[in-house]
Amino acid sequence: MEHLTPKEIVQFLDQYVIGQNDAKKTIAIALRNRYRRMQLSEDIQNDVIPKNILMIGSTGVGKTEIARRLAKMMELPFIKVEASKYTEVGFVGRDVESMIRDLASVALKLTRDSENENNREKIEAYIENKIIEKLLPPLPPTANEQKHIEYNATFERMQQKFSRGELDHLIIKVEMPSGGTDVFDSGFGPQVINVQESISKVLGGLNKKGKEKEVTVKEAKKILEIKASEELFDEDKLKEIAIAKVEKGGVVFIDEIDKIAVSSGSQSRQDPSKEGVQRDLLPIVEGSAVHTKLGMINTDHILFIAAGAFHLTKPSDLIPELQGRFPLRVELDSLTQEILYRILTEPKNSLIRQYQALLNVEGVDLVFEEAALRAIAHYSFVANEKTEDIGARRLHTVMEKILEEISFGADEHSGEAITITERLVKDKLGRVVEDEDMTRYIL
Ligand SMILES: Nc1ncnc2c1ncn2[C@@H]1O[C@H](COP(=O)(O)OP(=O)(O)OP(=O)(O)O)[C@@H](O)[C@H]1O
Ligand SMILES: [Mg+2]
Repeated sequence: MEHLTPKEIVQFLDQYVIGQNDAKKTIAIALRNRYRRMQLSEDIQNDVIPKNILMIGSTGVGKTEIARRLAKMMELPFIKVEASKYTEVGFVGRDVESMIRDLASVALKLTRDSENENNREKIEAYIENKIIEKLLPPLPPTANEQKHIEYNATFERMQQKFSRGELDHLIIKVEMPSGGTDVFDSGFGPQVINVQESISKVLGGLNKKGKEKEVTVKEAKKILEIKASEELFDEDKLKEIAIAKVEKGGVVFIDEIDKIAVSSGSQSRQDPSKEGVQRDLLPIVEGSAVHTKLGMINTDHILFIAAGAFHLTKPSDLIPELQGRFPLRVELDSLTQEILYRILTEPKNSLIRQYQALLNVEGVDLVFEEAALRAIAHYSFVANEKTEDIGARRLHTVMEKILEEISFGADEHSGEAITITERLVKDKLGRVVEDEDMTRYIL
């Protein structure tokens, strides 16, 4: 994945996000620059720091959507966090550093998964052997030749049954994996994590044997998969790889960054901890060492992408130090009627396709006339203009309104095709959109 060129990244995003080409390009370049950096010699590599990105755009234009899709695509450690969730150090709540700890957990899982994937056969064999051994206890060492031949034949027959899933319903006892300290961040600081780790080490040491549990073979497969990776791979090695992944390729998407900006105009009472959160963000964005359960993680080369609508505040309302640390600014365009139409129809799982699939469950074949789709885009656009601009989310409310009755009575129309005509859309929405007050309440 890291070999994707900027063009390919944009092409991928194009499948899901319509328009917003500037934002896509900027992000694609930033990601590619990481790859370029890795090709450099060490001494220059350390001097190339990533340029963080600030995405500005009103609500519902695709900021989070871009991040969501990137996350899916990239095999890099990636998390999306909400800036408004954090509190200043010393206050109750999650401190900002926990985003790096979460990122570390993500990286560990990624590493484990890819290691599992690379050793698929080994793991399958491990699971198969463990389960069959439970069902067919090994022979005592004193058994004679004849017994061994019989045993092997039975073992092979069991293997065949196993692979056909014919043993799935049998009940066996398996030892539970000792892990369980994984993917867990309580939101407390490093000291508490240390304590947690020592406690779980002590507890782990006490019941080293692990608990046995009766489960079906089917369930046992999943349990043993975790156990297999614990036994087959060196945990410290995994952590090392994971740390490298985070330090070289980690991406943190900070959503709703505008919510922690403090608008300069209003002198009214503002939450004092907002600025505190910003100040806590500084060292992390700038590059510092954060204690995680993997070990120390250096944030120098982690890429930060911040996004916000900046309706009530401006980027300049962030404290200057933080503004300076997000040098790349991209503005996302508000959605035109044409773009709304394309969002309705083009993305892989567009709204239209979602509704068609949903009603298909009831046996209804939902068909949209071209003119009807145009009308939906038109009314959505007008509603956005007349009242609040909520971007593509308007399409959802409009579609719900149009399909309300059809959706309600779908079971009575099983086996039929229902066509959404322009006439129907106009009947449902024409009057509503003309009246601003009604629009406010209904759409
Ligand atoms: N350009 C776009 N292309 C395709 N779908 C879009 C686009 N813009 C928005 N959407 C759809 O609209 C919905 C809301 O978009 P998204 O969550 O990205 O908004 P946002 O920009 O993050 O807004 P907010 O500032 O409120 O968080 C999503 O379901 C998304 O699929
Ligand atoms: Mg969002």
